[in-house]
Amino acid sequence: MTDISDIDQNNVPAHVAIIMDGNGRWAREKGHERVFGHLHGVEAVRAALKGATELGVKYLTLYAFSTENWNRPKEEVEALMDLLVQTIVREVKDLDKNNVRLRAIGAIDALPDSCRDELKAAIESTANNTGTNLILALSYSARWEIIEAVKSIVSSGINPEEVNEKVISDHLSTKDIPDPELVIRTSGEQRVSNFLLWQIAYAELYFMKKYWPDFREVDFQEAIKEFQKRQRRFGKTAEQ
Ligand code: IPE
Ligand code: IPE
Ligand code: MG
Repeated sequence: MTDISDIDQNNVPAHVAIIMDGNGRWAREKGHERVFGHLHGVEAVRAALKGATELGVKYLTLYAFSTENWNRPKEEVEALMDLLVQTIVREVKDLDKNNVRLRAIGAIDALPDSCRDELKAAIESTANNTGTNLILALSYSARWEIIEAVKSIVSSGINPEEVNEKVISDHLSTKDIPDPELVIRTSGEQRVSNFLLWQIAYAELYFMKKYWPDFREVDFQEAIKEFQKRQRRFGKTAEQ
């Protein structure tokens, strides 16, 4: 176990969101097909979840598949969907044992039937767990989510003058989830790629060079340590 004694337990973010990037490059650099990288990404997911549960992070959101990722070659999309089903089926018992509640955001109904069914079954079977919430962003993009929210606000007949931040937040797929305080992205890219645009308004961003399959618990802990060094101002002056 890594040393977490210099992490301030009173300043652990309630919600950490991760853009798991670099699987393809990781595999290609090793002379393998991109899918090999996705396969090894699962190990990193376990590590991130362990890091989060150990520190008492209440919500961990993982960007697993974006709306735009549907535009990838058919073989890669199919491989990712197969991997998703297999992983859910294999991991659900452990999630339950560790009191993890599985959730999902995104256009879940756009997933292949087997994925959607296994996902829904796993979500239901862990629904009463009270530990870390593991939220998978699947077929998700923030702009998709905002469009859905606007549609639902308009169709509910709310008057324009009644629309405020709370109304919008309440119509997003994250409605009962606090905003992420920390966003981690692996692979060296420094962008948000259509992830939780509304919710990360004041999140701290942490970019690391490692590719996702190399991400381990210690990397999660390093990110938390870095978060604890940041001064969050929310628009106030540094002295306030
Ligand atoms: C992240 O790794 C996984 C998904 C987006 C599904 P990538 O597949 O984007 O890998 P790179 O960024 O091309 O290396
Ligand atoms: C973001 O990674 C989406 C996920 C991690 C699921 P991408 O690899 O799709 O993002 P871009 O294309 O580099 O911005
Ligand atoms: Mg990528």
